[in-house]
Amino acid sequence: MDEVAWGKVMYMHKAKVVVTGGIHPAGIVALQKQCTVQLWQGEGTIPRSLLYEWLQDADALVPSSGVKVDQDLLSHGPKLRVIAQSAVGYDNVDVAACLAAGVPFANTPGVLVNATADLTFALVLIAMRRLGEALDHARSGRWQEGVPLAFGTDLAEKTLGIVGMGDIGTAVARRARASQMRIVYNNRSRSSVEDALKATWMPLSQLLSEADCVVVLTPLTAQTKGMFSTKEFQSMKPGSYFVNAARGSIVDTNALVTALQQGLLSGAALDVSDPEPLPTDHPLLHMPNVVVTPHIGSATNETRRKMAELTAENILLGIEGQPLRTQVVAR
Ligand code: GLV
Repeated sequence: MDEVAWGKVMYMHKAKVVVTGGIHPAGIVALQKQCTVQLWQGEGTIPRSLLYEWLQDADALVPSSGVKVDQDLLSHGPKLRVIAQSAVGYDNVDVAACLAAGVPFANTPGVLVNATADLTFALVLIAMRRLGEALDHARSGRWQEGVPLAFGTDLAEKTLGIVGMGDIGTAVARRARASQMRIVYNNRSRSSVEDALKATWMPLSQLLSEADCVVVLTPLTAQTKGMFSTKEFQSMKPGSYFVNAARGSIVDTNALVTALQQGLLSGAALDVSDPEPLPTDHPLLHMPNVVVTPHIGSATNETRRKMAELTAENILLGIEGQPLRTQVVAR
């Protein structure tokens, strides 16, 4: 914070942080201790024109994931010194443009690994044990009427195919090992814990043909956008299950719906979708063998608080011109 001596009085110019939402209140409280916070509390994503107005004199930005951070945005924030987001994924951010503008960008890796892995493994269980149908069976009265229920499948001795073996993929693999699953994975680089997890790297095509349940955990990039389409679903082991806990647009939604309608897959469990949110009349919300959760991978009180506090810490470090704790350098 800049200090100005005026007579005998020291005036502090508080840095201004624009926050467009999507952050636990603990982050706002931490920022307000040292900065002026301009917070978007309206419905939906902040209108672009208003955001540009707010950015004119802003020192820092905390964007929500619906805000595209690109060259145009950066040009409307001439004083920006740092951008930090309360999420691990940053497909909405042009990191190269931030670096070129001299504005460091940070995300929140690490702190959300367990919460997201728990939710992802819950989706594996929901899909493979057909828990969506079981819940519906009990609630609808079909249980009470004695109607038979479709059974799921054992996890033990089945193969889990993890696409994207980063920290979260590794934590999911640990949970799956505890359920005695065999782990195969596909990732750009080999996992350092391959031996400990008895995990086998394989090409995507082989993974799709061997896995009883495929879990998508890879980041959304130009290379992974639309990675799962008709060909991939047709290559999957017949009757297998599909879980996406990464980003909706890694999957071609229409191709997934068709694969489910054709019975190529036994079911799916999705924490993310394209579009997001899904309209209430979307087929995925009405298929008995599909469970959709509303993008809640990291949504626990403790984890969202830690993410917000890390975001605030990165913002304050950036304002001070210090290295950020979790700066993204390049993909
Ligand atoms: C959630 O999707 C995240 O990227 O943290």
